[in-house]
Amino acid sequence: MPAVVIVGAQWGDEGKGKATDLLGERVDYVVKPNGGNNAGHTVVVRGEKFELKLLPAGILSPQVTPVIGNGVVVNLEALFEEIDLLAARGVDTDRLRISANAHVVAPYHQTLDKVTERFLGKRAIGTTGRGIGPTYMDKAGRLGIRIQDLFDESILRQKIEGALRQKNELLVKLYNRRAVDVEETVQDLLAYADRLRPMVVDTTILLNDALDRGEVVLMEGGQATFLDVDHGTYPFVTSSNPTAGGALTGSGIGPARVSGVIGIVKAYTTRVGAGPFPTELFDEDGERLQRVGHEVGVNTGRPRRCGWYDALMIRHAVRINSFTDIVLTKLDVLTGLEQVPICVAYDVDGVRHDQMPMTQTEFHHAQPIYEMMPGWSEDITACRSLDELPQAARDYVQRLEELAGCRISAIGVGPDRADTIVVHDPLGQRAR
Ligand code: GDP
Ligand code: IMO
Ligand code: MG
Repeated sequence: MPAVVIVGAQWGDEGKGKATDLLGERVDYVVKPNGGNNAGHTVVVRGEKFELKLLPAGILSPQVTPVIGNGVVVNLEALFEEIDLLAARGVDTDRLRISANAHVVAPYHQTLDKVTERFLGKRAIGTTGRGIGPTYMDKAGRLGIRIQDLFDESILRQKIEGALRQKNELLVKLYNRRAVDVEETVQDLLAYADRLRPMVVDTTILLNDALDRGEVVLMEGGQATFLDVDHGTYPFVTSSNPTAGGALTGSGIGPARVSGVIGIVKAYTTRVGAGPFPTELFDEDGERLQRVGHEVGVNTGRPRRCGWYDALMIRHAVRINSFTDIVLTKLDVLTGLEQVPICVAYDVDGVRHDQMPMTQTEFHHAQPIYEMMPGWSEDITACRSLDELPQAARDYVQRLEELAGCRISAIGVGPDRADTIVVHDPLGQRAR
């Protein structure tokens, strides 16, 4: 029963795309269970760089069937743009399958995302502006448009009419915007129906049949644990469940099928958008991590906020996702530091916390308590085994492993697929 989940452990951009790509050669299906084109994964294959947003990174592996699961929200314009871009670069996109139950990001969802952010003013979330929140709101509010609705014009029209009756009131009376035309929206979406139809299937049957045959299915979560609407730093989160449980719901795979949950952990911490971030740096160390790590959002081009490694966050992520393995990424970015701090506890208004505090207020007030580890200056990008790493880098990795309470199975030492140290095979016996 080899279903394996990949989950971001921090606030996103840990290198999930690279990890999926790395495992891609040995899996049969890669399903994206949540999120939409708010994600941005950079994958470098033999020096060639690919940027993926809506499509799972598994699409870059020729023998993989990439799947967009029921939990995803799909912007159709973005979907076909991305497919065309990849096809133009010689990537075969014909294998892509899309769940009939996935929801559609309509143009009005994007409009609403932008106007609500503006309306929030200082309290804005700093969303990607892709309409993700409003689409999931409609899904939960039972006003959503699903992929399958594109194949029934009269149902599509009824649903859009229903959704816009309420939204146009909001747009016109509250946000001072023009009302959205029902027919224009219907035609906008219908324009994609013919091209979409051959890709759309019941992906739950597709994936479970594959598992029955003993094939390997990888669930590639977008976003990350602390952006999860239940477990993250609410309200500064995305509107889906990017944690391990959400990956199951978002692909229709039951928990007993899962044999591994791989947490992707950056060797330091980054965040895009607003919200608390205890180990954030505002000095030249932060600027250095940003520069050396090329920490700029793929999706919106915003510089990522940077800070030191936060062991409380990772321990919490291990707990709620039940990670079996950690893939540690971007260790090379720390090369050249004299000392590498690890946040091992928080001081919250004079009280020491060794676990994530219970309330958002406490998390906002959390001051990091650091343990200092010696740094290393040797270039590690060519290292391919633990033995080749300088002792100080090995000690850092070992300390992170102890603090996480989960084995570190692979270590990223550079952006390329090949720049990886594999300590234990995270797929183990689960794949060929
Ligand atoms: P994702 O959203 O989790 O897939 O991550 P992103 O692609 O948004 O951000 C991770 C960035 O780090 C990408 O630019 C990767 O090419 C790069 N990257 C991944 N692993 C490593 C690594 O081990 N070392 C370095 N230097 N870069 C890495
Ligand atoms: P990947 O998959 C980093 C952040 C946004 C914002 C918040 C809500 O590349 O790791 P949304 O548009 O989802 O409503 O925005 O979530 N965010 C991400 N940050 N990486 C991502 O994806 C993100 N997807 C959303 O910056 O703070
Ligand atoms: Mg990203």
